[in-house]
Amino acid sequence: MSDTIRVMITEEEVEEKIRSLGEQISRDYEGKSVMLIGILKGASFFMCELAKRITVPVFIDFMSVSSYGNSSKSSGVVRINMDINEPVEGKDIIIVEDIVDTGRTLNYLMELMRGRGANSIKIATLLDKPDRRVVDLIPDYAGFSIPNEFVVGWGMDYAQKYRNLPYVGVVEMEAKDK
Ligand code: IMP
Ligand code: MG
Repeated sequence: MSDTIRVMITEEEVEEKIRSLGEQISRDYEGKSVMLIGILKGASFFMCELAKRITVPVFIDFMSVSSYGNSSKSSGVVRINMDINEPVEGKDIIIVEDIVDTGRTLNYLMELMRGRGANSIKIATLLDKPDRRVVDLIPDYAGFSIPNEFVVGWGMDYAQKYRNLPYVGVVEMEAKDK
C-alpha cells in the first residue's frame, strides 16, 4: 500500500524561497549575529538550507518539543523533550519551524525565550497555515502561505513518513484513510 502524494510546492520553488528568506534575514541582521533555534524534527531540513543562505554570523541550536494530548484541544502547554545547549540571554534569536498551524507551539516557545532574556525573538517558518490560527501570531519570515491541507516533505511527516521528500506535497485523503 502506498499513499498518493500530490505536489503542492516544487523543490525548486522551495529552494528559491529559502534563498530569498536568507537574503532578507542577512539584511535585517546586518552588523549582528543571529542564533537559529530549530524545532526538531520537522524544521531540520529548512533550518540547514536557511542557515546556508544567511551571510551574517550564524549560530545554530535545536530543541525538541511536543504538545500535551490532543493538539486540537490542547491547552497550549508544550513539553520540552530536548532543550537547547546554549544560553539565549542577550542574543538575537530566530525560532525556526517547518509550519505554523494553530500557533500554540511557537506562542509557548516565544514566552519561554522571552523569560530566558533573549534580546530579540523572531520566527521563521517554511509554511504558514493562517486559517488555522488560534493565537495571535504572525511569523516574521514565512516562505509560503498555504490553505488548510495536511502537507508532508521538507521535514514534515505523516506518521513519521515522508520527511525526506524534496518537495512539499499533500497526502491524498482517500489514501490517508486506509
Ligand atoms: P501548532 O502549535 O499548531 O502551530 O503546531 C505546529 C506543528 O504541528 C508543526 O511544527 C508540525 O509539526 C505540525 N503540523 C501542523 N500542520 C502540519 C502539516 O500539515 N503537516 C505536518 N505537520 C504539521
Ligand atoms: Mg514541528
